[in-house]
Amino acid sequence: MTDDEPNGRRTANRDFDVELDDVLDEEEDEGGLFDDLLSGEPIFENKEVLRPSYTPHELPHRNEQINNMATILVAALRGETPSNILIYGKTGTGKTASAKYVSQELENTSRKYDVPCEVEYINCEVTDTQYRVLAQLANTFIEQNRDYARERVRELEDLLAESDGDPNALADTEFTDERDVEQRIEEFERDLEDMEEVPMTGWPTDRVYSVFFDAVDYVERVAVIMLDEIDKLVEKSGDDTLYNLSRMNSELTNSRVSIIGISNDLKFTDFLDPRVKSSLGEEEIVFPPYDANQLRDILQHRSTDAFKADALSEDVIPLCAAFAAQEHGDARRALDLLRTAGELAERDQADVVTEEHVRRAQDKIELDRVVEVVRTLPTQSKLVLFAIMMLEKHGVHNINTGEVYNIYKTLCDEIDADVLTQRRVTDLISELDMLGIVNAVVVSKGRYGRTKEINLSVPIDETEAVLQADSRLGDIEDVTPFVQARFDN
Ligand SMILES: Nc1ncnc2c1ncn2[C@@H]1O[C@H](COP(=O)(O)OP(=O)(O)O)[C@@H](O)[C@H]1O
Ligand SMILES: [Mg+2]
Repeated sequence: MTDDEPNGRRTANRDFDVELDDVLDEEEDEGGLFDDLLSGEPIFENKEVLRPSYTPHELPHRNEQINNMATILVAALRGETPSNILIYGKTGTGKTASAKYVSQELENTSRKYDVPCEVEYINCEVTDTQYRVLAQLANTFIEQNRDYARERVRELEDLLAESDGDPNALADTEFTDERDVEQRIEEFERDLEDMEEVPMTGWPTDRVYSVFFDAVDYVERVAVIMLDEIDKLVEKSGDDTLYNLSRMNSELTNSRVSIIGISNDLKFTDFLDPRVKSSLGEEEIVFPPYDANQLRDILQHRSTDAFKADALSEDVIPLCAAFAAQEHGDARRALDLLRTAGELAERDQADVVTEEHVRRAQDKIELDRVVEVVRTLPTQSKLVLFAIMMLEKHGVHNINTGEVYNIYKTLCDEIDADVLTQRRVTDLISELDMLGIVNAVVVSKGRYGRTKEINLSVPIDETEAVLQADSRLGDIEDVTPFVQARFDN
């Protein structure tokens, strides 16, 4: 905490210090629960800077993409309609951060020059149906229209008051007399009463669309609608939303709409109606993965604010960058690694973060990922994985599909689950392979044809714990006798 912090925070912190001292005094001999933790030098200056929710002020290695976006969107500041933009790139390549940065700049400049231009951001992973997208947009615009109408009423009332004492007050206005002004005020008041918010469910979609349409067109403006994770919307609800949004401009009178779609999936436009595809993709901007050097710069920038001076040993940032570069150049992963390494160092009460902390952080993150993937598998896949895990636990390696299938059937009986065909189970094994949970290679057995050799690629203990935490699988009695019996035969 520095001395130029805003006063409120400084005072609050002082109070906290005083109370803390009292507590520490009392506990002095015994060594309280928090004593050891507090006595170490903190590693972080401001950990929030490393979290995904933090919007950095600088985005190294994204100048080209940011300038491209700005060049297209500057049209909005000239009162023209910017082309629609489609942004592609894998996760963690800075798409959301860059798009948010550009939209903030755009809104700031539009305020400066008093041009009506707004950016509405929607995360389609959360808002994933046409109804919800349109409702959220409608309500945002209704809110703005209300503010606008109230402001106008206030201005007009001032004008009336002025003209009360000064008959020339209306001379340079669009109004002929006071009655005219009063009528306009009444109009706005009627509008304010009519502006009805869209409920989050329940209306026919047509009605939501029409309320949204009227809300956008209520005043003159350029509305830039930013649909992040747009591939999730299309996957879940098809391309109706995009179709409706992309043809609005031909019917709007006062306003114009421009769309920025952001997608992690490079091929998602294959699923679009050709008209939507060509309209949405008027301009395309690609965000390539970062290489290790670029990730290093990014981490360097963020770490100056995040860590205490000298809290990082020399090789920490290069190693985080190298690990994340292997992971398709994902900046989110690089930042996660750096933060987790710092947390581990903090827990160790170390003075500096070392290479060792980074390696442990890498293992921890990888394990967290696996646990999450396994936890969210459908029951049938969990049963297949359970069978593979049981076999491995009993020392069987290079397991073949037949062996898995036999144990799988036993497990299904145990918990009264439907038994899938061996064909389907083979498919599920391939899916587990793609998720990186098992490794299945096809080996040739000469004249006996080909078979799969399956091995678990994740730690057994954690996998077992996650599988058993599933309420359905938790009921499985010990299947060791069955597994054993297979080998006695
Ligand atoms: N060039 C960059 N400079 C600084 N931080 C970056 C940069 N690119 C990405 N980040 C950070 O990495 C994380 C992931 O970026 P994000 O924009 O969410 O990726 P995407 O939307 O492509 O998945 C965020 O915390 C973001 O702030
Ligand atoms: Mg994103």
